[in-house]
Amino acid sequence: MKPFCFADGKIIDTQTASIHPMDLGLIRGYGIFDFFRTVNHQGLFLEDYLDRFTASAEKTFLPLDYSREELRQIIGQLIEKNDLEQGGLRMVLSGGVSDNHFSPADGKLFIFAESLIFPSEEKYEKGVKLLTLEYVRPIADIKTTNYALAVWHSAQWKKQGAEDVLYHMNGFISESSRSNFFIVKDGELITPSEHILLGITRKNLIKIAGQVTIRPISLQEVWEADEAFICSTTKVLLPVTQIDDRTIGNGKPGPISVNLLEKFKELEKELCY
Ligand SMILES: Cc1ncc(COP(=O)(O)O)c(C=O)c1O
Repeated sequence: MKPFCFADGKIIDTQTASIHPMDLGLIRGYGIFDFFRTVNHQGLFLEDYLDRFTASAEKTFLPLDYSREELRQIIGQLIEKNDLEQGGLRMVLSGGVSDNHFSPADGKLFIFAESLIFPSEEKYEKGVKLLTLEYVRPIADIKTTNYALAVWHSAQWKKQGAEDVLYHMNGFISESSRSNFFIVKDGELITPSEHILLGITRKNLIKIAGQVTIRPISLQEVWEADEAFICSTTKVLLPVTQIDDRTIGNGKPGPISVNLLEKFKELEKELCY
């Protein structure tokens, strides 16, 4: 964590940030957040993340007492004070302290600056393994702070040499615990349409690719895919070459995935340098 954060309406020493123990964030797991990267001291796709964060606040009935312009200014100050050339900014809005300890209240806004470590080069070169897990994230389109199942399950997936999980229900897949999911079949890029967080990386990869089919994807189609990958702010695009005990495609990162990652990196440079 970097030395300065935003809390209690001002920029303070991160070590002194605090929250009431009866906040719904703690006692009910109710709150929202968002996370974006800084590249060359600039928020990459910042407006997309601010859109999603304000939408999450509205959908969870949590008042966000700051305008878009105020948020931009606070973020700018945090990047400067923390000299955050390359890193991440985490905006958190807690559920607040509620009279009945249940109904959404007036939450507390925090913005933290963090350093960011990408997965190893080896993972991008060889691809990673996912484990299937029968689950659908509740209110999946909202970026809530509820990751309890994934946090709990992570000991299991690590023990089995997996990078993460692939959620599925009734034979259809949705997303990974902190990433969206794509497959490639006969040159066509396909990504699920339902029960997912609308990822900002997903959105921008779709734009870059131009042609992407957005529809439900069955597990059977995943087994038969030529390529697969997960994508997120902290990974960009990470090829998936194994799911449970099955090899995806020829077991190596596919050309369409690799090309898309290159194009994303080019766009990042164009936007931030
Ligand atoms: C459940 C879930 N799906 C997808 C994503 C990817 O979204 P983004 O590309 O905006 O990071 C995340 C990111 O944390 C996530 O938590």
